[in-house]
Amino acid sequence: MVPSVCGIFGCLCDDAPRVLIEGLKRLEYRGYDSVGIALIGSGGIKVIKEKGRIDDFAAGLPNSALAGKVGLGHTRWATHGAPCRENAHPHTDCSGRIAVVHNGVIENFMELKEGLVKRGHVFSSRTDTEVIPHLMEEGIRQGLGLKEAAVSASRRIKGSMAVAAISASEPDRIVCIRRESPLIIGIGYNGVYCSSDIPALLPYTNEVIVVPEETVVVMRRDGISMETLGGSPLEPKPTKIDWDMGMAMKGGYPHFMMKEISEQPLALSNTLKIQRAFLERAAELIGGKAYLTGSGTSYHACLTASYLFSKIAKADIRAVHSSEFQDAVADLKGSTVIGVSQSGETADTLSALKYAKMMGARVVGITNTLGSSITTSSDIYICTQSGPEIGVAATKTFLTQLAALDQLVFAHALARGAISKEEYAGATAQLERLPAAVQSVVDRVGDLKGVAMKYSRRKDAYFLARGINVATALEGALKLKEISYMHAEGYPAGESKHGPISLVEEGFLCVFVAPSDSARGRVIGNMMEMKARGAEIFSIITNGDRELIAISDEYFEVPEVPEYAYPIVCTIPLQAFAYFVAVARGYDPDRPRNLAKSVTVL
Ligand code: G6P
Repeated sequence: MVPSVCGIFGCLCDDAPRVLIEGLKRLEYRGYDSVGIALIGSGGIKVIKEKGRIDDFAAGLPNSALAGKVGLGHTRWATHGAPCRENAHPHTDCSGRIAVVHNGVIENFMELKEGLVKRGHVFSSRTDTEVIPHLMEEGIRQGLGLKEAAVSASRRIKGSMAVAAISASEPDRIVCIRRESPLIIGIGYNGVYCSSDIPALLPYTNEVIVVPEETVVVMRRDGISMETLGGSPLEPKPTKIDWDMGMAMKGGYPHFMMKEISEQPLALSNTLKIQRAFLERAAELIGGKAYLTGSGTSYHACLTASYLFSKIAKADIRAVHSSEFQDAVADLKGSTVIGVSQSGETADTLSALKYAKMMGARVVGITNTLGSSITTSSDIYICTQSGPEIGVAATKTFLTQLAALDQLVFAHALARGAISKEEYAGATAQLERLPAAVQSVVDRVGDLKGVAMKYSRRKDAYFLARGINVATALEGALKLKEISYMHAEGYPAGESKHGPISLVEEGFLCVFVAPSDSARGRVIGNMMEMKARGAEIFSIITNGDRELIAISDEYFEVPEVPEYAYPIVCTIPLQAFAYFVAVARGYDPDRPRNLAKSVTVL
């Protein structure tokens, strides 16, 4: 089960308001910019929602609101629409008789919304989710029941959705739909529950049903029924969970970092759903001169993108560390600066962007955190869709930055005529196949445990690559040093002969990122130089590369992908290698010493 952005919770039980608040508190790690609940009462549906965190929300709830036996709750991590009260879930239809919570991304919401507005629907938010209750309202007006209306709406929606809906006309039930986004049902002695995740259900039951893809569930107090969206009945199969709460929060993984590594296929697939309109507007802004800037891992995403802009869009766009930006860049008038920051709050990056604006540049922000400072200080921003990342070491957020930048590079290449419309369409189709490739890598990262054990007591390591994967090598070295405290250095492999090779002696660890891209031949030359001096070679290679298997002491195979996508698939084994080395050395990879998730000082 791979969680994504936002948390949903629903219950049919005595004292639903208290259970909803408790459930949302446990889901808060999935998002925390706004929160809301909907309860069915004698007068219809009551919705209470607010910007901010669940504790403040709960403290501000009026006692009169706290009644009901059927309810929905949501904790939000904004993807469409700023974090504010209006955009918080639950969302309702025009009559206020249907309420919906949703986790996922609706790709065709603009088109659906336009149609609904033309047919007289009034929207009160800027979210993609709000199309769902309005579409359901139309179904119900045509005589459908709540379940049928939800299924009919789901047929018109493209994208991911875990949805829970209630209606004042059928007050004894909650209807849920699952497509891509996770959804779990819990059946307890005192109630029936639905949630985005298992931990939120554990206080009430350890009998859970992982809802299969493309399924509709009708929950009633006395049990549930399930069928496919095509109408075939399904047998609910409960599983007994024996995790404790700590393990459950980590989805059964020992650390958040490994949980987040394993979430990358879904995070990537969510990011690839970025509305094309945003990409096109951002791509057009990148006119003549442009720069990329970020810190730490986000800088590595910038560096990868600078190679891609050059290779694919034939545009030279320099990547500059945010902390160096003011000293390194002078002529900014009329140029564009692409600022990349997971948190959107890194002081170095914000300060670089402030300087860029002051000097007359336009700013494109790429961030995982809607409503963060970078979104307010950018002319336009793109939100990667990773959901909250708890491990200090950036993993899934890096992959989604790369994916968003890939999309931006192709959109820019199209805008400036470097690729044709057909090539653009081909690249988009290739990108859509990437989550499957990433899944196949994630499924095998456990194989690296042995390699990590073997090298865990080394003092140093070099991480080397050429071309498009230089930044992948830098990121591999950063991951290893930041969580395992082993000294690691990444640099372009061709630079060895200009100094670093003097350190190499018998048993020195060299990690090569060497997939079958245009740099492979030259990388092999650099590998041989190291091997000749006694270095041990651990290489990341493309499936079935016999020549490199023969040269390497250890290797990890990634699937063949287009050249621009190798940084995405090659980064994952390096994250996992760092993770296993840290664990083997006895450190907690989630909380590296001296580091913070978001550094808000210069
Ligand atoms: C800190 C974190 C890094 C992160 C960097 C930039 O140093 O420990 O993991 O890459 O900040 O953060 P940002 O939120 O701007 O991407």
